[in-house]
Amino acid sequence: MKKVLVATEKPFAAVATNGIKKILTAAGYETVLLEKYSDIAEFKTAVAEADALIVRSDKLTKEIVDVAGKLKIVVRAGAGYDNLDLAACTEKGVVAMNTPGQNSNAVAELAIGMMIYMARNGFTPGTGAELKGKKLGIHAYGNVGKLVAALGKGFGMEIHAFDPFVTADALKKDGIVPVADVKELYSKCQYISLHIPANEDTKKSIGYDLLKSMPKGGTLINTARKEVVDEGGLLKALMERNDLKYATDIAPDGLAKMKESVGVRVFATAKKMGAETSEANINAGLAAAQQIVDFFKKGERRFQVNR
Ligand code: 3PG
Repeated sequence: MKKVLVATEKPFAAVATNGIKKILTAAGYETVLLEKYSDIAEFKTAVAEADALIVRSDKLTKEIVDVAGKLKIVVRAGAGYDNLDLAACTEKGVVAMNTPGQNSNAVAELAIGMMIYMARNGFTPGTGAELKGKKLGIHAYGNVGKLVAALGKGFGMEIHAFDPFVTADALKKDGIVPVADVKELYSKCQYISLHIPANEDTKKSIGYDLLKSMPKGGTLINTARKEVVDEGGLLKALMERNDLKYATDIAPDGLAKMKESVGVRVFATAKKMGAETSEANINAGLAAAQQIVDFFKKGERRFQVNR
């Protein structure tokens, strides 16, 4: 009987875990749960017996892949797969997949929630501002970016976007103002919602110059990855301009120092919560289980990311 390990340091909602089990049991597979683990050794022991693996942001390093002697497939239940060592997977013949789009709505709603929170000064007394009439820049128009754009329109925002993989015509069709490059996006828009993946090209790519170029009241919303922001540049820009704000779902390494220096103009969730809705957990978790079944039973590889 094939064993499918669900290794989630941050567990799925129970309703999602039950749904995953149901799909795997119906396929004749055993589900092994490893939740809230605190020691990598537990992950290593469990993965050694697994034929398939479902993770969230759990780091699948080469060290772990190397002990996964039976592993054929890993599915990251979510969008970003920067937590998977793809080279190690490929070297071991392990197929790696993600579940694109499945948790996007939850992340998009959080991005808008953060915009309102920052516009209202962290819900502290004092005069805030409205989103209506402001320019919202979508940095990368993928599954989440598209939803944030649609929600922003609902608030009466003027939506601009930049994505090197999406044409200006496609953006215009969605009622979005295309811009030539990232520089133009940041210099035009009061709100920027970040949706770029973390990879070698994007790491630390959002820094001092871009932030400093933002219009008055410039607010950067990061529901993507902390690695794409150059923390030193961000802090410098925030200190030089007391109208700039930063809200993130992934706390910067130097959060304490940032808070000390700029107060409520910086906000970070206590633990990454963009995809923390039961709907997102159900969508992504069940999709991951189904992708594993379809891979073993039909050879389906549609969402493979390590080709
Ligand atoms: C993703 O890439 O899908 C999101 O960042 C969600 O990550 P999580 O599953 O760790 O909450």
